[in-house]
Amino acid sequence: MLNCDTLIQNTLVLDGSGTAPERADVALRDGLICEVGPALKCRAAETIDARGQALAPGFIDVHTHDDIAVIRTPEMLPKLSQGVTTVIVGNCGISAAPVTLRGEPPDPMNLLGNAGDFRYPTFATYTAAIRDAGPAVNVAALAGHTALRNNHMDRLDRSATVGEVAAMRGQLEEALNAGALGLSTGLAYYNANAATTEEVVELARPLAAAGAVYATHMRAETARILDAMHEAFEIGRLNHVPVVVSHLKCAGVDNWGRSEEVLRALEAARKMQRAGCDCYPYAAGSSTLDLRQVDERVTIMITWSTPHPEVAGNTLAHIAASWNVSQLEAARRLQPAGAIYHSMAEEDMRRILGHTATMIGSDGLPNDPRPHPRLWGTFPRVLGRYSREEKLFPLPEAIRKMTGLPAQRFGLAGRGFIRKGYAADLVLFDPETIIDTATFSDPIRPAHGIAAVWVNGVLSYTADGVTGDRAGRFLPRGETTWMQ
Ligand code: ZN
Ligand code: CU
Repeated sequence: MLNCDTLIQNTLVLDGSGTAPERADVALRDGLICEVGPALKCRAAETIDARGQALAPGFIDVHTHDDIAVIRTPEMLPKLSQGVTTVIVGNCGISAAPVTLRGEPPDPMNLLGNAGDFRYPTFATYTAAIRDAGPAVNVAALAGHTALRNNHMDRLDRSATVGEVAAMRGQLEEALNAGALGLSTGLAYYNANAATTEEVVELARPLAAAGAVYATHMRAETARILDAMHEAFEIGRLNHVPVVVSHLKCAGVDNWGRSEEVLRALEAARKMQRAGCDCYPYAAGSSTLDLRQVDERVTIMITWSTPHPEVAGNTLAHIAASWNVSQLEAARRLQPAGAIYHSMAEEDMRRILGHTATMIGSDGLPNDPRPHPRLWGTFPRVLGRYSREEKLFPLPEAIRKMTGLPAQRFGLAGRGFIRKGYAADLVLFDPETIIDTATFSDPIRPAHGIAAVWVNGVLSYTADGVTGDRAGRFLPRGETTWMQ
C-alpha cells in the first residue's frame, strides 16, 4: 500500500487545464502530488474528507507588487486567504532587485516600500532574502526596467545612452542567471516614458536565449492604446520573446467601449507571435496619483498622501471642494500620493476578463494603508461573482486562467496543474459559496469559501485562518511552454 503524508478524499478535481472536473482523491508526499484517482488506497499521516468540495491547483497571481511584502510580511495573508500559492513580483517596470538607490525610490517604485526596504543590489541577494524570510507563498520575479534605469541613469526624463543600456543589460543578465522570469516595463510612468522603443528592444536582447518573457504596463491605456499594443508586440517580435500585456484595460471615459477593438489587436498579434494579457476583475485601477489622469468625470479616491495623510479615503472631488481649489490643483498639493481611479467601463473589463488569452492578476498594492480591494478579493471574485453568478465563463476555465495557463507561460515548471509529480500547491474551496468580501469602503477583508490551502504539501491556511506553517519558496524560471 502507498504511503503518503496527506490524503484528500472525496473531492472534485479541477486540474488546471480547463477540462471538466472529476471526482477523485489526491495524495501528497514530500511536497508533491504522488497520486490522483478514484478511491485511493493509501496509508496517510493525515486524511481529509473534502465532502465534495472543489480542489484546484493553488492560484498563481501573475501580476503583483508583493516584492517587499513577501519579506516584510511573510504571512502573506491577503494572498494566502484567497487560495493564492504563488505570486509573480516585479511587474510594471518596478522591482525590489536589482536596485541600488541614491536617495528616495522614484515613482512608482515608492509603491513597493521606503528607501530602507530596497536592499538588494543584485537579483541573487533578493532570492537569498526570500529564502531567509520564508514566506507562506512561492515567489517568482521579473526584473523591472525602471529599476534598472534608476541604477544607471542620472535622470529618468530622457532615453538611455548605448552605454547605459549595456550596463542595464548586464544587470538583467545577472537576474536571468539567478532565476528571473523576464523583464517588465512600465512605459506609461514618467520615469520610463522617455525610454524609446529601441532602448527596450536593446535591453531585452538576453530574454530569448534564456527562454524568458517580456511583460509590459504599456505606454498608453487610453487614447493611444493601439499604438502602445503595437509597440509591445514589436518589442516581442524583434526579440523572439512572448509578450504579456499587463492589466489590459480601456482607461478613461473617452475610451469606454473600445475593448472589442483592443482584443482584435491582441488576436491579430497572436496569429504571428506568442502574446497574452492579464486582468483584474474590477472597473477601477490604482497606482500613484498621476496628474495626467485627473478628470472631473472620473471618481478618484486618495489612498495615501505624504504631505496630507489625513485625507486618505476621501475622493479628490471632496478634497478639492474643501480646499476650494480645482481637482488638478488639489492633486498637485497631495503629491506624492496614491489613488484609486474609477476610470473603466464594467462591460469592457468583463469582455477582457473573459477572453481566452487572459490570465488573472490582482495588481494589489500591499503597501497601501487603504488598498484597492483587489489586493484581498481578486481570485474569489473571479470565481464567485464572474464565473458562478454572472456566468462569464465556466468554473474550469476560470481555474485555468489562474493556474495552468500562467504556469505554462511563465515557465513555472511542475506547477499549475493537479498531476502526479507536480508540486502540491492546492486550494480546497466551496464553489457554491466562494466570494470576495473586500470592498472599496472596507478593503481589508478575507474572502469567504476557502476551506484549505496547501503550499508545497504543507497545510498553510484553513477557514480558521493561518496554520502558522510557511512553506513558500523562490521559484526560478523553468522552461516556458507557451501554447497561446
Ligand atoms: Zn501597472
Ligand atoms: Cu502593476
